[in-house]
Amino acid sequence: MSRRIHLNAFDMTCVSHQSPGLWRHPENRADTYNTLEYWIDLAKTLEAGGFDALFLADVLGIYDVYRDSASPALLDADQVPLNDPFMQISAMAAATSNLGFAVTSALTYEQPYALARKFSSLDHLTRGRIGWNVVTSYLESAARNLGLQRQLDHDDRYGIADEFMEVVYKLWEGSWEEDAVLKDRERGIYTDPSKVHPINHAGKHFNVPGIHLSEPSIQRTPAIFQAGASSRGRRFGAQHAEGIFLNSINTAVTRRQTDQIRDELELVGRPRDAAKIYALITTVVADSDAAAEKLFRQYQSYSSREGALAFYGGWSGLDLSRYAPDEELRYVQTNAAQSAVSIFTTANPAQRWSPDTIADYLGVGGIGPVLVGSPQTVADEIERWVDDSGLDGINLAYAITPGSFEQFTALVVPELRKRGRTWAGYEGNTLREYVSGRTRVADTHPAAAYRGAYAGAPSAADAKNSPEAVIPGR
Ligand SMILES: Cc1cc2nc3c(=O)[nH]c(=O)nc-3n(C[C@H](O)[C@H](O)[C@H](O)COP(=O)(O)O)c2cc1C
Repeated sequence: MSRRIHLNAFDMTCVSHQSPGLWRHPENRADTYNTLEYWIDLAKTLEAGGFDALFLADVLGIYDVYRDSASPALLDADQVPLNDPFMQISAMAAATSNLGFAVTSALTYEQPYALARKFSSLDHLTRGRIGWNVVTSYLESAARNLGLQRQLDHDDRYGIADEFMEVVYKLWEGSWEEDAVLKDRERGIYTDPSKVHPINHAGKHFNVPGIHLSEPSIQRTPAIFQAGASSRGRRFGAQHAEGIFLNSINTAVTRRQTDQIRDELELVGRPRDAAKIYALITTVVADSDAAAEKLFRQYQSYSSREGALAFYGGWSGLDLSRYAPDEELRYVQTNAAQSAVSIFTTANPAQRWSPDTIADYLGVGGIGPVLVGSPQTVADEIERWVDDSGLDGINLAYAITPGSFEQFTALVVPELRKRGRTWAGYEGNTLREYVSGRTRVADTHPAAAYRGAYAGAPSAADAKNSPEAVIPGR
């Protein structure tokens, strides 16, 4: 059998995630993003389709680069209004048994000690179905509202990220020994203090002397995802990621990216397939090719040029209102997502992009292809994208929601199953098992270095605080 194509769904706790203007489509229920009903229905649909995970994007600012204004984003609801992506996860987990959840959190604006506890909590509550999409943020507007004058420099953000990861790995993998929690009612020992260890982290950016607050969860370290595609971002991904999300414009460019990522994995001592790679793809499916084409044209008629350029401004850091509509975009180093600039310039020098063609491309489905056709046509195209690009799967964005996900689950999943390209049912119970076949991090993953690393080292039970000292006779 050919390799399984991993399916992930891409959404965000907002109205317009990747398809600007389409919120106006009469069948789009994206504006119910602030109800649990929306999220629970979506989770059930995705689980019926055997999706590995729902990937929840997030940002902490607004898209105000284009026209130097927040108005275009607000008018089109481009990722604003935007709620916190962690809140709906427990409700979705309660309504499903298998679906995984990969939630985005920008570590630039977090403390590792507190964020580690948040993920451990969700790993407990989802019974091992949580993943973290590690991002460093790209919006100046986020930095300005989170205590900085301006965004930290691109590569410095990744430098902080490396140390951040070291701290959370220490907390998740090293602080609590496997058998620390005894729940011994007779002896009155819930946790054996000698088996819980302070991590004593003293670094350039973080000092965390203490213990992890949560007891070990099923996966301990959540499944780690990442989506940075600049050269520094790729290096970070090669070190830490177990799943990597890519934007894509054609299979040749995507193939180069997947080859580069696998080379980098090898360079850091991990197997070439240690991270699964997924490309952003949107599908428009109907019973026949002609009906799907008609539907696609209808979707396009709702898309917003201003909204698309507002998105692009936020992602790239470039204000395309300063360019003539047909002026060629050339690579400029920005402090936002550098891969959002390179993908339309240096990645494929044979193709020339301008504000008009970029707006057109982004109009439905963001920086990824839109595959349009009957279930057979779309399944053919997905196989071609995955196989020609060296991908492991897709990250399915929507034109309208939950309609696009329902179409895909009802029409394309059965076709992929028939071809043996996606599983008939979940194999395993944890998100990491879906991604890599194991529940705990691989031995070659950097988190594994802290597994049991402090056993035998000083514990939280120093003489002063041990139960013997506090309550004699125990
Ligand atoms: C498919 C995809 C999804 C992404 N989702 C998010 C997100 O939800 N939040 C975020 O802050 N950045 C997101 N990013 C941006 C990257 O994680 C990264 O921060 C950005 O691309 C800058 O890094 P780079 O210059 O290395 O590409 C995403 C990127 C891609 C390709």
